[in-house]
Amino acid sequence: MRFTRNARDFDDWIRGPFADLNTELEDIYFAQDDRTAIPTSGERFRRRIVDEGHRHVTRLLREGNTDEGFDAAFDVLGNVGMYMAACRRHGITDPSREQTSPLKDASALALHLGASLGVTPRFATSHLTTHNPARDGRYKAFTRLEDERIFFDYNTRGVFAYKRAADALVRTLPLGISHPVTQDLLRDARDALRDVARWNNELFERLDTDRFFYCVRPYFKPYRVGLHVYRGANAGDFAGINEIDLLLGVCRADNPAYSQLLVDKFLYMMPDDQLRLRDSMRRRSLLDELMRAMPSSQSTDWFQKTTRAFLEVCEAHGHAAAQHHDQLVSKFIERPAEALPPDDQEDITASGPPLSVLLPALEKLRDLRLAAERDDIPSRYRELRQLRSCLMAGFIPTRLQG
Ligand code: HEM
Repeated sequence: MRFTRNARDFDDWIRGPFADLNTELEDIYFAQDDRTAIPTSGERFRRRIVDEGHRHVTRLLREGNTDEGFDAAFDVLGNVGMYMAACRRHGITDPSREQTSPLKDASALALHLGASLGVTPRFATSHLTTHNPARDGRYKAFTRLEDERIFFDYNTRGVFAYKRAADALVRTLPLGISHPVTQDLLRDARDALRDVARWNNELFERLDTDRFFYCVRPYFKPYRVGLHVYRGANAGDFAGINEIDLLLGVCRADNPAYSQLLVDKFLYMMPDDQLRLRDSMRRRSLLDELMRAMPSSQSTDWFQKTTRAFLEVCEAHGHAAAQHHDQLVSKFIERPAEALPPDDQEDITASGPPLSVLLPALEKLRDLRLAAERDDIPSRYRELRQLRSCLMAGFIPTRLQG
C-alpha cells in the first residue's frame, strides 16, 4: 500500500498512542461500580485523543488525500472512522445531543473519502477484520485489550469462512444443479459453514462477557458524520452471508424485510462485495432449481446426490445462524443488557434501535436460515420438507440399476 507521509503518521498514531489512550480509559471505566459511566477522571486522556487525532486529520484534509489508490484511501477512511468512533465511545460526541458532528474536519475528510470510494463515510467491519493490515504480527484495534483481539480474530475467521462458502455456491451457477462437480462444490460450502460454526464456538468459549460488553461493544455505536447518523458496523457487513441466503434460497430478495436489510447494508460493504451481492439478488436459487427439477428428475442419480448435498449445506447454514443468535447474541449482548437500567438499554445496539426491536428481527433471520416452521415469515420449510421426503433411503444410483 502506498501511503503519504501524513497518512503514515496518522496510521502510526492509531496503532500507538490512540490504542494506549483508549486502553487507559477502558481500565478506568471498568474499575468503577457503574461501568457504563464516563467519569471526569479520564478527561486528560480524552483531551489527548481529540487534539492529537484532530492534528492528523487536518493535515490529511489539507493534503486532499483521496488519490493514492483505493487501498490507501480506504485505510485512511478506517483510521478517521476509528477516531470518530472512539470520540463517540468516550461521550465526546453524541448524536442525540447534536444536530451535526462537532468533529468538522474529520467529517469532511470521511465524507470526501467515503463518497469517492463508494462506501459509507465511517469505519466499517472490513477495516478491522478482512482489510486490516498487520505490522509485525499486530493489526489495528481500538485498545490493547486481549478480548478485543479475540473478538476480531474470530470475526475475521468467521467472515472468511462465510466467504469461502459463498464462493463455492457462486461457482455452481454456471455448472447447474445436474453437473457432478456441483456436488463437490456443495460439499465445500458445507465444510466452510461448519468452520463458521467451529469459530463461533471458540469465540463463545474464549471471549469474556463483561470485557466485551463494557469495553469493546461501545466502539460500535452509531455516530454522526457531518449531518447524518451512520449506524455502527457489525460482523455481517460483507456480501457472503447474503449470497449464501439467496443462492440456497432460504431468504428471498422479494421479501421486503429481507431486501430492506440488504439495501441498508450496501454501502457498509466493500465495492466488490456490493457487486457480488447485486448479482446474487438476480439469480434463481438452488432450492428453486431443485423444486423445478423434482417432478421429472427425482429418481435420477444426480438429483438424489445434489439434493442430499444441498440439504447438508442448508443444515450447516441454519446451525451457524442459530449459534450466532442463541449463543453469541444471547451471551454477549442480551443477558448483560438485562443488568442495565432501562434507560441505558436503549443505547446498546450497533444499528440504533433498542434491543427489544432488534432481537425479534435477528430471530426472524435465524428462523429463515433454519427454514423453521413459521408462517408469519416466508420460511421455506415446506419446500425443504418436500425435498427431504423425496430422498430415497438406500438409494441406488440409476447407472447401477437393472
Ligand atoms: C461476540 C460475538 C458477536 C456478537 C455479540 C454479535 C452480535 C450481533 C448483533 C447484535 C448484530 C445486529 C447488529 C445491530 O444491528 O446492532 C449482529 C449482526 C450480524 N452478525 Fe454478529 N455478533 C457476533 C459475532 C459474529 C460473528 C463471528 C459473525 C460471523 C461472521 C457474525 C455475523 C453477523 C451477521 C451476518 C450479522 C448481520 C445480520 C445477519 O445477517 O444475521 N457475528 N451480530
